[in-house]
Amino acid sequence: MTASILVCRRIFPDVVARLRDRFEVEANDADDVWSRDELIRRLQGKDGVFVTGTQAIDAALLDACPKLRAVCSLAVGYNNIDVAACTAHGVAVTNAPGVLTETTADFGFTLLMAAARRVSESEAFLRRGEWTKWSVDLFAGSDVHGATLGILGMGRIGQAIARRGAHGFAMPVIYHNRTPLPADVAAAIGARYVSREALLREADHVVVVVPYSAESHHLVGAAELALMKPTATLVNIARGGVVDDAALAAALREGRIAAAGLDVFEGEPAVHPDLLACRNVVLTPHIASASVPTRRAMASLAAENLICLLDPAAGRLAPTLLNPEALTRRL
Ligand code: GLV
Repeated sequence: MTASILVCRRIFPDVVARLRDRFEVEANDADDVWSRDELIRRLQGKDGVFVTGTQAIDAALLDACPKLRAVCSLAVGYNNIDVAACTAHGVAVTNAPGVLTETTADFGFTLLMAAARRVSESEAFLRRGEWTKWSVDLFAGSDVHGATLGILGMGRIGQAIARRGAHGFAMPVIYHNRTPLPADVAAAIGARYVSREALLREADHVVVVVPYSAESHHLVGAAELALMKPTATLVNIARGGVVDDAALAAALREGRIAAAGLDVFEGEPAVHPDLLACRNVVLTPHIASASVPTRRAMASLAAENLICLLDPAAGRLAPTLLNPEALTRRL
């Protein structure tokens, strides 16, 4: 029997067409943001769901949608999905690692350079018509090349940022991660393992790339910001909640750190009003992976996962399955 799937947000039409070749598809072409109740209602009778990083998939939702067998996300971060609950319900979960690594690392560097060199702040000044003369210290910021780059979280994206820093910008790279990299991998990307405290104290620029979890909630808060250099830059391309936005806004306002670049926020799409009031922060709406080819690759990978999980004719394994144990629970 043909499986039935729900695509929660608007994606590329050719990717939807590929899914329609194999499944009954309900697609959200209007790109509405459905409430949880609406999502549960639309999931009735569905075998699979194509999600993004924002729909919360938890035990209560799974209880309410007993036919569901596959949750496939186009995001790499999956803190919106309770994987253990999915496994217990025999629901397979996939994310989209790998395809967005380089694009997201590019954007980490974009924010780092824009914040360190005060791009948003100086552009706003120019647009307000306040640029009347050249001055020796007009929007003078910090150097990126040769400065010490501190990376909190050293997965694929952290490593791609380290390579850019070490090889492109001659930056000494220090990092902290739950598990240190194998020595040869660390040597190849030129990264030295240090404690979190040492990283915050020594780095000229700190980039946060850890997944969100209860453990990483407010990993960078007032106490950590207090360890940073007053000339330092902080970049968050991980998830809202990893940085304490209110504490960061206070540190930026009081000049306790020089600048920040943020792509993710606690409670996004709302942004803390104190951050909006700070000039020395570059703010972007969760677009680190948003190049057209990469967003296409992410959507295609999620679709491929759905096909492998729900079309018996596919005859291949889902490429990025997070919980293979879920498959045996259904047998
Ligand atoms: C984006 O934030 C992702 O997790 O892919």
